[in-house]
Amino acid sequence: MLVSAKEMLQKAKAGHYAVGQFNINNLEWTKAILLTAEECKSPVILGVSEGAGKYMAGYKTVVGMVNGMLEELKITVPVALHLDHGSYDGCMKCIEAGFSSIMFDGSHFPIEENVEKTKELVAIVNEKGMSLEAEVGAIGGEEDGVVGKGECADPEECKRIADLGIDFLAAGIGNIHGKYPANWEGLSFETLDAIQKLTGDMPLVLHGGTGIPADMIKKAISLGVAKINVNTECQLSFAAATREYVEAGKDLEGKGFDPRKLLKPGFDAIQATVKEKMELFGSVGKA
Ligand code: G3H
Ligand code: ZN
Repeated sequence: MLVSAKEMLQKAKAGHYAVGQFNINNLEWTKAILLTAEECKSPVILGVSEGAGKYMAGYKTVVGMVNGMLEELKITVPVALHLDHGSYDGCMKCIEAGFSSIMFDGSHFPIEENVEKTKELVAIVNEKGMSLEAEVGAIGGEEDGVVGKGECADPEECKRIADLGIDFLAAGIGNIHGKYPANWEGLSFETLDAIQKLTGDMPLVLHGGTGIPADMIKKAISLGVAKINVNTECQLSFAAATREYVEAGKDLEGKGFDPRKLLKPGFDAIQATVKEKMELFGSVGKA
């Protein structure tokens, strides 16, 4: 059964580790992540962007697929199905479709509007027993059409949003979606520290988890990050493994063109990436 992400993230924050949110795109992605979480005895959050939701034929299809896998793969670890960078409308659709968690990304609105819309969603989500993530200070780069300016969040604004009764908070601290450029200045731990001092026990979320060096990940966790989002890194490892298979001509040998064979190296590569991240984030054995 799907669970809200609230409890798993409160436990992570108190235990000084982070739970990974891994974005899904299709059946292979979902199965690879769920099996890895089960093998690692790690709680996990499946992230679905609005673009990926459309690609997978809609949120109800996603809910059906994930619930089916939880049962048939006998998954026992806590799993949350979470809308990633949702619009207000997208949040309403996912609540109706049976997601267990949503993110409302109001970071591109003026703060008053972000507060108003987030407040409305807190009331709805609380009643349903779901969890809600909000965002302050847009994450840099682009993910599935969501473009952010990459500013550092204002800690006072973070406190205003955190005080609305949300369950976890994403704040821009110099993090970027996609690959980090060679001249990236790194995460602003000063900003993160100021945010955590003002928001107390609130689990903080680090977006743009692809390619952040291990020492920065560990420092971010020590300063209150309890959820780390990874998307691009799974896509890169899937693409590299698939390319290797095709370039070696394996798709032309025997039944190598059968999608169950063709997609297997990419599937294995996603599992390896997810396992590596769960070990780095410290969530292995925490389920
Ligand atoms: O919301 C999802 C993420 O922030 C993923 O970022 O693609 O850079 O790993 P990433
Ligand atoms: Zn993100």
